Amino acid sequence: MNLENIKNDFPLLKDKNIAYLDSGATTQKPNQVIEGIKEFYENYNANPHRGAYSLSIEATEKYEASRKKIAKFINSQSEKQVIFTKNATESLNLIAYSYGMENVKKDEKIVLSIMEHHSNLVPWQKVAKAKEAKLEYMYINDEFEIPDEEIESKITDNTKIVGITHVSNVLGTINNIQKIIKYAHKKGAIVIVDASQSIPHMKIDVQALDCDFLVFSGHKMLAPLGIGVLYGKKELLNKMTPFLMGGDMIEYVYEQETTFATLPNKFEAGTQNVEGVIGLATAIDYIEKIGYEKIEKIEKEVVTYAISELKKLEFLDLYLTKNLQKHSSVISFNIKGVHPHDVASILDAEGVCIRSGNHCAQPLLRYMNLDSTCRASFYFYNTKEDVDKLVISLKKAYKMFERYLKKM
Ligand code: ALA
Repeated sequence: MNLENIKNDFPLLKDKNIAYLDSGATTQKPNQVIEGIKEFYENYNANPHRGAYSLSIEATEKYEASRKKIAKFINSQSEKQVIFTKNATESLNLIAYSYGMENVKKDEKIVLSIMEHHSNLVPWQKVAKAKEAKLEYMYINDEFEIPDEEIESKITDNTKIVGITHVSNVLGTINNIQKIIKYAHKKGAIVIVDASQSIPHMKIDVQALDCDFLVFSGHKMLAPLGIGVLYGKKELLNKMTPFLMGGDMIEYVYEQETTFATLPNKFEAGTQNVEGVIGLATAIDYIEKIGYEKIEKIEKEVVTYAISELKKLEFLDLYLTKNLQKHSSVISFNIKGVHPHDVASILDAEGVCIRSGNHCAQPLLRYMNLDSTCRASFYFYNTKEDVDKLVISLKKAYKMFERYLKKM
């Protein structure tokens, strides 16, 4: 690891003239993670939990040691409360089907924030429809934050489930999940935290938060694609019936009946993504080696610089929380009058990678009277030079459209 030039650890970024500003979609992977996966395939590839031979036992040991590492990383009471899935979306579907379908009753409420990614919204529409429950939203104010009054008026005695993203993937707003969790518990509701956009950037402690469920994807925090995590409180997970049925999640199978395995296996049907799990554990080693303090410091410096430079561009609309303490590493913007996809294509030609579109958050954009934005999302490997590239390419894009815009 070379803290002076972190990009050297990332083969895709090293010596390349690109500004990768789409880490909110997926992060690049360091050599250490790629090597960790290679080592797995070269030395102990076998199917865990399924063989009595030493290679399979070794694969099982590595797989379970990774679970322990992840449990410690989020301060879970036990590693049995860490379930591997393919991504945050699958984790959220698991909760909706195994908890939501069994616990929400007619006329009870499911409360979400309007900032939710579709993955923490569409499954709840399905539960609400199936159970004839009500689906309500906590809306944002002009500063792109959920005001306390909104929390207190929407989460009521009738609320069974609250779903909240820790950090908005569109606005970068860091939600006050501590307040939401406390308030929801007071009203007897359980809280699901989507930490996909927060855990890559800040320390998560599930016990301190006292959240009931927490989900995230590995690929947004240096790990490979296709590995996700579901954390849940033991008493809830124990009571839930499995979401997927198949091999290794059972205890006994009879012709007509089955009894299920205990945690965590009862939620891990079929052969698992072992390379993903090993990759995630290696990614955690890498993050811990740098440390969140340093990660936050680097990102704060680069993102603050980006905000101040982007604010100078009068042709931009910026969608930002005012209080930068409540803002993470995502910046959404539009060139006034130009479609974000056009902007993104022009930036691409300049070697600047941003995301454009609705960011899987259509209800939020509709609420903001928008249909899409450009989004630059940063990680600790980004530099002020990346920001400069973004600014230069945005000026170029604006120049290309300027005369048409003036005619409008
Ligand atoms: N959820 C990811 C994003 O916000 C893909 O880009």
